[in-house]
Amino acid sequence: MQQLWQGRFQKALDPKTNDFNSSIKFDSRMFREDIDGSIAHATMLCAQGILSAEDLKAIVDGLTAIRSEIENGTLAIDPNAEDIHTFVEGELTARVGAAGKRLHTARSRNDQVALDIRLYLRKACEALYQQLTELIGVLCKKAEQYADAVMPGYTHLQRAQPITFGHHLLAYAEMLLRDKARLQDAAERMNQSPLGACALAGTTYNTDREKTARDLGFSGVMHNSLDAVSDRDFCMELASTLSILMVHLSRFSEEIVLWCSWEFKFVELDDAFSTGSSIMPQKKNPDITELIRGKSGRVFGDLVTLLTMMKGLPLAYNKDMQEDKEAIFDAFDTVKMCLTAFIPMLDTMTALPENMRKAAAGGFINATDCADYLVGKGLPFRDAYKATGELVAKCIGAGLTLETLPLDKYKAVCDLFDEGVYDAINLDKCVRDRTSLGGPAPQNVRAEVERVRELNQNK
Ligand code: ARG
Repeated sequence: MQQLWQGRFQKALDPKTNDFNSSIKFDSRMFREDIDGSIAHATMLCAQGILSAEDLKAIVDGLTAIRSEIENGTLAIDPNAEDIHTFVEGELTARVGAAGKRLHTARSRNDQVALDIRLYLRKACEALYQQLTELIGVLCKKAEQYADAVMPGYTHLQRAQPITFGHHLLAYAEMLLRDKARLQDAAERMNQSPLGACALAGTTYNTDREKTARDLGFSGVMHNSLDAVSDRDFCMELASTLSILMVHLSRFSEEIVLWCSWEFKFVELDDAFSTGSSIMPQKKNPDITELIRGKSGRVFGDLVTLLTMMKGLPLAYNKDMQEDKEAIFDAFDTVKMCLTAFIPMLDTMTALPENMRKAAAGGFINATDCADYLVGKGLPFRDAYKATGELVAKCIGAGLTLETLPLDKYKAVCDLFDEGVYDAINLDKCVRDRTSLGGPAPQNVRAEVERVRELNQNK
């Protein structure tokens, strides 16, 4: 493979150093974007009278053939090429001669690579957006199904107050809606064309940057040539968006791990999304969720790689920036793999409402409601809290629950209690009455499912 910088040099690059310098192993996946960008560039050059119609035709035909041959496997990408840009241009020139050598007029690999990454990530964002939409759809379906399933809500992983499983699932739907919004926002900000900024200082040719931007589906052009070739903030922004998403998936995964344990047994995963043990015949492990929890670290690592790589770089392009692709591609690949496993796993997961209910019946999660009952009888909340605390201590001592504690024991602590307390601490009622905005009452959950479904469809 010939190097691009002939003329100035007497020797080819040392072969091992060439391996070190090359990015072809990880940038060849952008071959389509590279070709799209080159076609748009050549088309513009021709429209501006910089390239002849014959040369344009040779370039477009040549590039189109190269694309389909790479796609169908008849053209192998040379692993010794410096990068995908060098490979495509070299291959084109080998096929069409002088026209191929004219393609790089008024362009540099610096604006070319900045363009290709944007085009590639634009598609990756769209695909991820679809996956998130699908995941939120599954959450809505499940939330609707389990709108009435009472379970304990936790703080400090201690049973705290009654909620429903549907409400719990919708909490994740809300997080994911924000992840979608962040993704869309970052993708929109990224959608400005750097093409035509050339190496760093634009060009003396009469180019039309607006045209290439339009033809490639950008919403505008980047207005500073130095910025256009040397910024990678879109990579950092996307990696941070993906990191936040992975935090959400990881927390959700951790909860599923807990819920699958015999200590909880709130859910059962489908066999197709669980694994066994090589020695313990009884085991059914939630490996998928553990892996997602583990892979979150990788995505955070990609973000830190990008931030660290960029933080001290002078303007404009520096070779350090070649490191951007492995990090941001890995982040997208990882998230995509995680979601590809997570969505059907969640879809086929069975909830066990009886077990949730059993857990909700222990742990005194209706203690706040008991105190609220006394408040209803005119007692200040702090006094009601103290009286209920004493009752809980009594129950624990006697191995009882608030439901099974006899009325005389209630009265011994506070004479405002009467038979009505048992209704007030009934778990179904406690949940049903939690209708405050954002609360877990089944009717709220059903209404919120509709709201989330609608937001999820908005583009
Ligand atoms: N492979 C390079 C990268 O990924 C392309 C740009 C190279 N430009 C240069 N002046 N060396 O960043």
